[in-house]
Amino acid sequence: MGLTYKAAVLHAPKSPLTIETVEASEFAPDDVLIRIKAVGLCHTDLEVIEGTLRNPMPILLGHEAAGIVEQVGAKARGISVGDHVVLSWNPHCGHCFYCDRDLPILCESYLGQASRAVQFDGRSRARLSDGRELKHFMYLGALAEYCIVPAQQAIVVERELPFDQACLIGCGVMTGVGAALNVASIRYGDSVMVIGCGAVGLAAVQGARMAGAGAVIAVDLDDKKLDLAKRLGATHAINAASDDVIDLSRQLTGGRGVDVVLESAGSGRAFRLTTEAVRPGGEVIWLGKIDVEQDVAFRWGSLMQEKRIRRSSYGGARPLRDFPMLAQAALDGRLKLHELITARISLDEVNEGFEALRRGAAIRSVVVF
Ligand SMILES: NC(=O)c1ccc[n+]([C@@H]2O[C@H](COP(=O)([O-])OP(=O)(O)OC[C@H]3O[C@@H](n4cnc5c(N)ncnc54)[C@H](O)[C@@H]3O)[C@@H](O)[C@H]2O)c1
Ligand SMILES: [Zn+2]
Ligand SMILES: [Zn+2]
Repeated sequence: MGLTYKAAVLHAPKSPLTIETVEASEFAPDDVLIRIKAVGLCHTDLEVIEGTLRNPMPILLGHEAAGIVEQVGAKARGISVGDHVVLSWNPHCGHCFYCDRDLPILCESYLGQASRAVQFDGRSRARLSDGRELKHFMYLGALAEYCIVPAQQAIVVERELPFDQACLIGCGVMTGVGAALNVASIRYGDSVMVIGCGAVGLAAVQGARMAGAGAVIAVDLDDKKLDLAKRLGATHAINAASDDVIDLSRQLTGGRGVDVVLESAGSGRAFRLTTEAVRPGGEVIWLGKIDVEQDVAFRWGSLMQEKRIRRSSYGGARPLRDFPMLAQAALDGRLKLHELITARISLDEVNEGFEALRRGAAIRSVVVF
């Protein structure tokens, strides 16, 4: 009998996760065993629960995690037992068409297997007590006491950073800050609008500030989220439920529209707003997502005039380069992570945590072990 541990398992969409004792499968030579210490509940997990992001089942969710290395395979390099790590959900081969073009997020092996929900070598690393194989969401499945990953997905960070903050770097913070620092070309003094102020958007607000933006205009439907955006560096806040976003943002930008719009709401309405709010020649970055089969309509005129529109996953992440940098920014006080944690909960409370995210009542609920 191998290692057994508690994990949250999703057996079918639109059903609660169940907390079960599962068993680890065979450990590969370049694997590391991570004792999970904290996992953030991201909207992307919620999409699997709600059935708008389709994955095979039964599956382990959780892809925003930090923990301690407990075992290191014979071929794993650059990592030791006891290291504190943040997990990356973008394993990549390093030598395919896209890896060679500096786009690991499009790695052919990564994209080719993503819909199968296996680990990067094509195998599962866990099974249910009845022997059935478990799937791993986003090459992780970290809503569990343990997670086995190839060493390339476990990024060592400073031990001083508390785990409940460190885990957020693994998805929402990397995506939001990275969109501003790695993907958009924000110039010092630019006006930047962030639409949707959940964890990803609040990270984007901070990334825009770090990139030197002049005005940072936060947009959401919830005043509480807008208040937090202001505390994290937004210079202006607009409630799209009650105010005219286009009119107010034009007033702030000499009538032109904003230089850069970062979208992190994940709604057709927000996507539409991005191209209306950006100035001619400006840049739009979409981070949010909706059901891939759903249509979104745009006014053709809003797409004209040299606008650059890009949809981006993971904020141009190079985890080995970016995770330690983000952890250091948090330790230096330049990046605020503590403020993104609404609640610390136990694994048993995971369904309540996802329900709070669905209702918009939480920025991040973090499961702590
Ligand atoms: N691109 C990536 O790599 C990546 C990574 C993580 C999450 N995501 C996606 O990014 C989005 C945000 O994730 P999150 O975890 O921060 O979610 P969240 O639910 O915490 O935040 C979404 C925010 O958008 C606001 N919102 C919704 N509709 C809006 C509208 N029409 N106008 C303005 N604000 C609106 C909500 O009030 C909420 O504050 C989701 O779609 C998620 O799937 C993408
Ligand atoms: Zn995520
Ligand atoms: Zn590749």
